[in-house]
Amino acid sequence: MIRLVRDILLRHAFFYDSLQYLLGSYSYRKKVVLSALAAREGVQTVLDIGCGTAETATWLPGNKYMGIDISPAYIKKGRERGLKEVTLIIGEAQNIDSIFSNQKFDIIFLLGVLHHLPFDDCKTVLANVSHLLNDYGVLVGIETATFDGQSSMSRYLTNLDRGRNILTGSGWARLLEEELSISEFRCDDSSLTIPFGMVSYSCRKKGT
Ligand SMILES: C[S@@+](CC[C@H](N)C(=O)[O-])C[C@H]1O[C@@H](n2cnc3c(N)ncnc32)[C@H](O)[C@@H]1O
Repeated sequence: MIRLVRDILLRHAFFYDSLQYLLGSYSYRKKVVLSALAAREGVQTVLDIGCGTAETATWLPGNKYMGIDISPAYIKKGRERGLKEVTLIIGEAQNIDSIFSNQKFDIIFLLGVLHHLPFDDCKTVLANVSHLLNDYGVLVGIETATFDGQSSMSRYLTNLDRGRNILTGSGWARLLEEELSISEFRCDDSSLTIPFGMVSYSCRKKGT
């Protein structure tokens, strides 16, 4: 029942955004995004895969930002923000290789998206991310995760996530390492306003 109500409400951009604010999810993501930007100079092109309502674009003025999301309602809300240098596309993360063919990005964000995809599709997305990154580019992401030592309340709340591909912290690390080199990786359940398991990471193309 909780899951049914959650799914119906979250189809609406207003409820989605409100929940993200309430859970502290946007402030956590903002911290991750801004520290990724601060760690490197000369960032110009940004791709945000599973961009939701493009809240992330509001933290990145001056960058050429492209966002893609499967939800027409979220993309509509994002377009209504009227942001400059922002292009929002309705599409599937699994098809980014053909949608963005011949384009390269300085930063690619995958903020809470892979846990919504079937496991094998995550591999496809990560392989395509590797092709779309500049040689000095970086993938920055967060995902819902379980891990040893998590309290039972934290594990219960984590499993209420609507994503069905929730991996352990080490499961996420193994998946990322199949296609990319991990430069930073952090696992914790104290970043939101409720106990909730998350990993945050940054990765480079292999061999760079
Ligand atoms: C937890 S939300 C995160 C949204 C955004 N990255 C943010 O930080 O606010 C997950 C997003 O992934 C999108 N999504 C789920 N499956 C997708 C797919 N196959 N292709 C593209 N986007 C997808 C959802 O519509 C939703 O906007």
